[in-house]
Amino acid sequence: MKKALVLGFAVALIVFCIGPAQAQYKATMRLASALPMDHPYMVGAQKFADLIKERTNGRIEIKLYPSNQLGKGEREMTEGIQQGAIDLLVTSTGPLGGFSPSINILDFPFLFRDFNHVDLVMDGPIGRKLLDDFEKVNIKALSFWENGFRHLTNSKLEVKKVADAKGLKIRTMENKVHLSAWKDAGLNPTPMAWGEVYTALQQKVIDGQENPIAVFYSSKFWDAGQKYFSLTAHVYSPSPFLMSKKTYDSMPKEDQELFVKTSYETGKFQRKINRDAEEAKLKEMAAKGVAIVRDVDRESFKKAMAPTYEAFSSQFPKADIEAIMNAK
Ligand code: PAF
Repeated sequence: MKKALVLGFAVALIVFCIGPAQAQYKATMRLASALPMDHPYMVGAQKFADLIKERTNGRIEIKLYPSNQLGKGEREMTEGIQQGAIDLLVTSTGPLGGFSPSINILDFPFLFRDFNHVDLVMDGPIGRKLLDDFEKVNIKALSFWENGFRHLTNSKLEVKKVADAKGLKIRTMENKVHLSAWKDAGLNPTPMAWGEVYTALQQKVIDGQENPIAVFYSSKFWDAGQKYFSLTAHVYSPSPFLMSKKTYDSMPKEDQELFVKTSYETGKFQRKINRDAEEAKLKEMAAKGVAIVRDVDRESFKKAMAPTYEAFSSQFPKADIEAIMNAK
């Protein structure tokens, strides 16, 4: 009898403590990205904010800060996440190897065959492990969203094979794997924060850059003189959806679970709208005068960039690379 009473009291205490803690938790959070509101990053961010507001009955509100409003590039904004100055961030893996080195394994050229292959890896155990590694550096990585397959663009000539691009001055992300691959391919790459790219293109400090279709489109790079868009698909660019660990740890457990679940759900939606819109965007870009080069010899890029795998083999052994390439 006494035991049952104690047990009953303990259960009541737990219910009393957990329920009201969640009911009382209220927050306004800041979600940032480098890209404008019409880019799939921010369309996804708006959906995430709406779902969280609805599912918490308005207890948690998420305010959106697009277009580098909270930092001049993704490295600076990731520092903001780490320090707790920003709560949520959609970012490419560009600068993330400087925080969690294992994530760089996703940056190798021609690692992924297609979107099905991408989804298998990102939503499987390899993706989960890479996200969990961020905990070591005070960042909670919730799920993978998407930037897309990256393509080479420039102001000078139609690039159909790697030899055509020889010597082109291009901007790369602040990412050592990408930098190495472009050097191997015979180009002249310069790492640069995203916030400086448009002006550098406009002032012809660089000839080109490389990014997915949606980035080129939302940045209106034809207005900065980028006339040639070659569908090189040389690397897939995933976008971890990051949260400040400080903010995450301050939330009740039920809200933490809600954020993880909702971020996965939104990630699926975000990848779909990104992929579904690519052809229409290419058509609009062509209408703006951009030459879309479809018949690219991707093998020539793949062959030229292959030494990069060898250059990083002590950090990323062949077996780990093959686990991604052969993911079923
Ligand atoms: O090129 C980059 O830096 C990234 O792809 C971008 C455009 C900031 C999107 O994550």
